[in-house]
Amino acid sequence: MADLAVRLGGIPLRNPLLLASGIWGESGDSLAGAWAAGAGGVITKSIGSESRRGYPNPTVETYDRWGLLNAMGLPNPGIEEYPREIAAARAQGATVIGSVFGSDAGEFARLARRIATTGVVAVELNLSCPHAEGYGTEVGSDPADVERIVRAVTSEVTLPVIAKITPNTSDPAGLAAAAERGGAAAVSAINTLRGLAIDIRLRRPVLAHGLGGLSGAAIKPVGLACVWQIFERVKVPVIGVGGISSAEDVLEYVMAGARAVEIGTAVTFDGIGVFGRIARDLSGRLDELGFARLEDAVGTAHPARGRPAGAPAGNGPTEA
Ligand code: DHB
Repeated sequence: MADLAVRLGGIPLRNPLLLASGIWGESGDSLAGAWAAGAGGVITKSIGSESRRGYPNPTVETYDRWGLLNAMGLPNPGIEEYPREIAAARAQGATVIGSVFGSDAGEFARLARRIATTGVVAVELNLSCPHAEGYGTEVGSDPADVERIVRAVTSEVTLPVIAKITPNTSDPAGLAAAAERGGAAAVSAINTLRGLAIDIRLRRPVLAHGLGGLSGAAIKPVGLACVWQIFERVKVPVIGVGGISSAEDVLEYVMAGARAVEIGTAVTFDGIGVFGRIARDLSGRLDELGFARLEDAVGTAHPARGRPAGAPAGNGPTEA
């Protein structure tokens, strides 16, 4: 069976399937449950300086199988409370990555310094929530801001720092390059796409907050395009996120340049068993495709990076 273990910016993972931030991560037990179900690592919900209740309901709208629109409002118990959940997940053996959100470089650095003491193997910076006032995309859309925030964190902690990049911008690869300059060990792409649903009878948005973030199968092509462009631009490893629910989806992201992936909406739709199923299928798929190790497949859809013999060259139509 093909080897699924990967190294990600110095972080050893038993497989490349990470639980995405914000899903199934409310408690240490739920994080540990994702680990027990076969995830290669689990990312906490995004934690801020103070506890936040989040937005009122409704906070979620689902679209059949293809998408999910949500605006939770970054609910979390705050950085003083949450570390006990991390400790509980660690006690059950989970590889945990902490996620934090802040309003400026100083707040990110303080949060990262605190979470670095909890046993997490890395910290992911939420630079990309698409609708929270003063956070996420509002502080993560300008490359100069991204570089400053990432540098503030990397000069504060020795842990690998992962920058989660927004797709709600004209140049996501430029943001990834800024994160790399700031010292990020890896970048994850993408977070949700800003979206809106309207209730035509009530003549108002479906979600209480109005704008939300779209995830799920609908955004997979957007995520793939971002990973593709980022892979061509930076040297640090890329974590692919967006619409992954099968081994084939994982392989698309890996061949586009991802070394690991995050899975979120598929857990909401299909349950935590997705990790075991995808890990099993992935080994089989890699065997069929002739890859002994997942790492050998990274970036192989890019021109000049190891297409199988006989495959057409270039991205365009094959020559006559
Ligand atoms: C929320 C946060 C996110 O990072 C995101 O992509 C979508 C929603 C939230 O907490 O509302």
